[in-house]
Order: sequence, then C-alpha cells, then structure tokens
Amino acid sequence: MANTTTEGPLTLRRDAWWVAPLLTVIVLTAFGIYATWRALEGRYYEVGPYLSPFYSPLILVDWWKFSPAILILWAPLGFRVTCYYYRKAYYRSFFWSPPACAVRGLKSRQGKYTGETRFPYILQNVHRYFFYAATVVLAFLWYDAFKAFFFEDGFGVGVGSIVLLVNAALLTMYSVSCHSCRHLVGGKLDIFSSCPTRYRLWRWVSALNEHHMFWAWISLFGVALADLYVRLVATGTIIDVRLI
Ligand code: FES
Repeated sequence: MANTTTEGPLTLRRDAWWVAPLLTVIVLTAFGIYATWRALEGRYYEVGPYLSPFYSPLILVDWWKFSPAILILWAPLGFRVTCYYYRKAYYRSFFWSPPACAVRGLKSRQGKYTGETRFPYILQNVHRYFFYAATVVLAFLWYDAFKAFFFEDGFGVGVGSIVLLVNAALLTMYSVSCHSCRHLVGGKLDIFSSCPTRYRLWRWVSALNEHHMFWAWISLFGVALADLYVRLVATGTIIDVRLI
C-alpha cells in the first residue's frame, strides 16, 4: 500500500499498519451481512432445546409481522456499536480517522476534531444504558444455555448444549470486561478501603478489562457460530450429536 499522497507522506511507518484496519473492515462487514440476513430470515432459529442467540429472548406476538429477532437485537447491537473498543476499531478502519497511530487521517476531518462532544458522536455516551439492556438479554442467554441440556427424553448433553453454553460464557466475559461495568463496580468511590468488596470486584473487572479487545472479537465469532450451528441443525444440514 502506498504511504504517500499529494499532500506529503501519509506516514513514516514502514510496518504493515494497514493490516489491522483492513481485517476489521472484512470481519465487521462479514458479520454485519450475516447477522442482518439471519435477523431478517425469521426461521430456522429453534430446534429441539436449542434457541439461536440472535432470537433470544424469543418474543412471538400477534401484532408483530416481522422477524422476532428485530424486537431484541437492538440491545446487543447498540451495545457493540457504542462499545469503547469497537468505536476505536471502526473509527480507524471505516472512517480512516486516523487509520492507525502516527498515520495521517482524512484531510477533511483535520483541524476540526471535536471528539465525541457533538452530534452524532455524543450519542455514544448511551453506552452504559445499552450495557444494562444487554445484561438483561445475557440473562436470557444463560437461561437458554441451561435449557439446552434438557431434551424430550430428559437431561442430556448435545454438541449444541456446549455451543450455547460457551456462547453465553464468552458474552459474559465481554460484558464483564466492559468499561461501563468497571465504572459500575468501582466508579464514584473516593476511598477504596471503605468498600473492600467493591475494590476486589473492581480489580477483578479491571484485569478482564485489559483484554476487552480479545473478548470483543472472540464473543463476536462465538455468537455468530452459535447461531450458525442452530441454523444448520434446524435445516437438517448437520445432525446434533448427543454426547450424553
Ligand atoms: S466498552 Fe466494550 S462493551 Fe462496554
């Protein structure tokens, strides 16, 4: 990739700085297309004791004629879109603003950087409320994971049971490592010694928070693969293997 423009060098960096933004565009675009298709498909989301995470909690009401996923996906979607890590990722990769450290961003944005203090970026501040909404959805995903161990003939373990359980665990790690969660457990405290329990929680969440990027990506793949698994079983493309 050329590192110069008519206005001078784009950057003096000689490493492959463009790889990360390029991969981000590819993965987020692929996920966006897949998730939109699945959310609008409105079928093959339930089979046996398994429910796709894209459709959980399953809300079936007479007055809603479209896919039930649309009623629920705004919460996890809003949570991801306003996530501090994803903001960095898509500002860099999609907005090129700037694309990497020590690489010049789009000229039109230079000189009038206002951060996230103006519309529409100021709306990113609702992230904490999406955190609360996504936590409610997460509770349903744990319920679905629990239910996935109960088949028509009683308790059992299928590959799908493990898939849904791992998905709930990964999403939990993503939520618990969230900056808003960290603020919730340790924020607005002047003296940690006065609240040792919150201090311990804050240290634990802070340790996870350091790896928030990892949990963001792994949980994104996890939720897409969990949905894909349910769809493949529901369509008869693959057979769910019973382990117990
Ligand atoms: S900062 Fe990423 S989910 Fe909250």
